[in-house]
Amino acid sequence: YHSVGVMYSVPTEHRLHSGYAHPLTRSWQEGNVDIDPKKLMLPVFVTDVEDAIEDIDSLPDVKRYGVATLPGVLKDLMSKGLKSVLLFGVLNRIPKDESGSGADGEGSPVVAAIRVLRDKLPDLLVACDVCLCAYTSTGHCGLLNSDGQHDNAASVKRMAAQALVYARAGAHIVAPSSMSDGIVGAIKKELVSAKLDGRVAVLSYAVKFASSCFYGPFRSAAQSAPKGVTISREGYQLPVGSRGLAHRAAARDVEEGADMLMVKPGMAYLDIVRETKDRFPNHPLFIYQVSGEYSMLFHGAENGAFDLEDAVMETFKCMRRAGADVIISYFTPLVLELLNNHR
Ligand code: PBG
Ligand code: ZN
Repeated sequence: YHSVGVMYSVPTEHRLHSGYAHPLTRSWQEGNVDIDPKKLMLPVFVTDVEDAIEDIDSLPDVKRYGVATLPGVLKDLMSKGLKSVLLFGVLNRIPKDESGSGADGEGSPVVAAIRVLRDKLPDLLVACDVCLCAYTSTGHCGLLNSDGQHDNAASVKRMAAQALVYARAGAHIVAPSSMSDGIVGAIKKELVSAKLDGRVAVLSYAVKFASSCFYGPFRSAAQSAPKGVTISREGYQLPVGSRGLAHRAAARDVEEGADMLMVKPGMAYLDIVRETKDRFPNHPLFIYQVSGEYSMLFHGAENGAFDLEDAVMETFKCMRRAGADVIISYFTPLVLELLNNHR
């Protein structure tokens, strides 16, 4: 190259390499970013077909299980360190209807899964997504009024009842994801009056953005979008570019008694993770690395863009650095495997 003859001399006190030249000194430069099995939660799809093990086209290597096949798979993962799951129901047999009865009625796959997991795997923490989109004929997260608009009061009533059914069945955590106004407070009230508030926590999807692209693979996995219909969830999920509203949503849910908070999606929203953690340092903060992020990393690696394990571990470390205490990810089995191999 062509040197112009200038000498760049770095002052002694600006020389930083010395502080991270050794692997151990490098590690001291990092904050509290360790990845521990306790900080990982696995999302799980449970169908109403008991002995099912189904591939999911949109989420390679992720499967839907029935209540008969699920305990064995999770038991195996627990031997590698798995501590907690987040259950999502999927209806294959039970018909969907306007009020989403399949969520908590006769034959509900989630209720059956809670019971069987609590019975067979007593050391596993069981969290349940509380929403109606996988069960309603409309595919919406809540109920609609006669002119097709989100009926907030009816939705809150319906989903507070759904949460109570899951709590009674033995769920440790109920996680409302519908973004209905007032849902956290309503669920808390139900838990208190049922005297379950002492053992059931509310994890609020407080800061959930309307990311139709990053949720895309999930919607086919949970069959939560009616075939051939594009539903907009912008009436309840947050505008992608909002930060003020994100703060208000988190503050509102904290006031309503949320035990834990979540930001979702993950990677593109790490600024919001940091701000939420700074504002509410005393609430465990969850981040959901959603289906589109999983697919993006999976396919990127498949196509030679990077090594999957390196990419996943980097995203996990960065989510921890941003302030996430717990990471919900479909990569949990892979990461558990990696943690075991590095011991
Ligand atoms: C349902 C729900 C969704 C996700 C979690 N709960 C889908 C949505 O809001 O459309 C997305 C999870 C993922 O993409 O992995 N309310
Ligand atoms: Zn929903």
